[in-house]
Amino acid sequence: MARSVLLTGGAGYIGSHTYVALIEAGYHVVIIDDFSNSKASVLSRLSQLTGVNRVSSYEGSVLDPAFLDQVFDAHDFDAVVHFAAKKAVGESTEIPLEYIEVNCSGLLNLLKVMKGRGVRRLVFSSSATVYGEPEELPIHEDAPRGYTNPYGFTKLMGEQILEQAAAADPAWAFGILRYFNPVGAHPSGLIGEDPSDIPNNLMPYIAKVAAGDLPHLGVFGSDYDTPDGTGVRDYIHVCDLAEGHVQSLSKLIETDDGHTVNLGTGNGLSVLEMLAAYGRACGRDLPYEMKPRRPGDVAACYAEASRARALLGFEATRGLDDMCASSWHWITTGSKDA
Ligand SMILES: NC(=O)c1ccc[n+]([C@@H]2O[C@H](COP(=O)([O-])OP(=O)(O)OC[C@H]3O[C@@H](n4cnc5c(N)ncnc54)[C@H](O)[C@@H]3O)[C@@H](O)[C@H]2O)c1
Repeated sequence: MARSVLLTGGAGYIGSHTYVALIEAGYHVVIIDDFSNSKASVLSRLSQLTGVNRVSSYEGSVLDPAFLDQVFDAHDFDAVVHFAAKKAVGESTEIPLEYIEVNCSGLLNLLKVMKGRGVRRLVFSSSATVYGEPEELPIHEDAPRGYTNPYGFTKLMGEQILEQAAAADPAWAFGILRYFNPVGAHPSGLIGEDPSDIPNNLMPYIAKVAAGDLPHLGVFGSDYDTPDGTGVRDYIHVCDLAEGHVQSLSKLIETDDGHTVNLGTGNGLSVLEMLAAYGRACGRDLPYEMKPRRPGDVAACYAEASRARALLGFEATRGLDDMCASSWHWITTGSKDA
């Protein structure tokens, strides 16, 4: 019998790609999402992509324990993959309490209902943001943790909630996955990062410039101690990231032991390298303007990727051109009528 997995936030950017990877790996998957940052139309696209006749899904919030109870009444889950959260760093500085409520209370609600049903395996969407301002590169999982904004605070607190739960009760098995910078889209062009609003992150911003929706990219800082002076980050293709969730889940199921790993490539790419690669994907040079550094930005941030390789067999295989080409394919096809 296929293992059954609950995906919270499964209609979102990373959740939808993980849905595809889990179906391809033979799991039965149920999505819950309140569609606060996604569209219900993604469900029919997932059906089209995977051949699953009707994607099993429920509309509701992780803040609603009665709703969670209903979903757990209807299914016998082996594990949960928890994506549902608010994720905009800038917004989190304006409405920190909402971020703490959704990201931390949502997690607590989920853990309580899981415990009541004896479901003890959970994969948690954490982030490189839990390293605060990194002291050493590449960033190892044992590096000191911290936060520089309310969003980062909620992710660190999420990890700590899981650590406290596991310390008190070893029946829990948590896969804590610290994503670096997820980019790109499924090669079909049917799912990708929803390009509404002004994006916070580099690649969606570049994509908007490429599409002519924004005039140019502002490059914040050209005098960092990096090869071309611009900021360096570890970009990982969202399909690689999605496969990392499948590997984390199967590790939890095989061993019932938890793990905390970075999911990145281990390589840093600069803003200008990213811009040039996106230019190759869309067929023209993209305009940019150099601006002063932004307070709080670090020169470089990339993962020590060896623990995920050793523990989960995880390897990011898709390169920069694939990241940009798949993003551009999504922007010019699928995102138009999503
Ligand atoms: N995208 C990134 O750069 C990145 C990096 C590190 C970590 N993460 C984490 O990964 C997870 C997924 O990120 P994403 O980029 O796919 O974001 P996303 O916004 O595309 O997906 C999150 C999904 O959760 C849903 N959701 C939000 N609040 C909910 C609630 N209360 N109840 C039910 N559903 C709710 C949204 O509608 C959306 O579909 C988040 O936890 C995020 O913090 C993302």
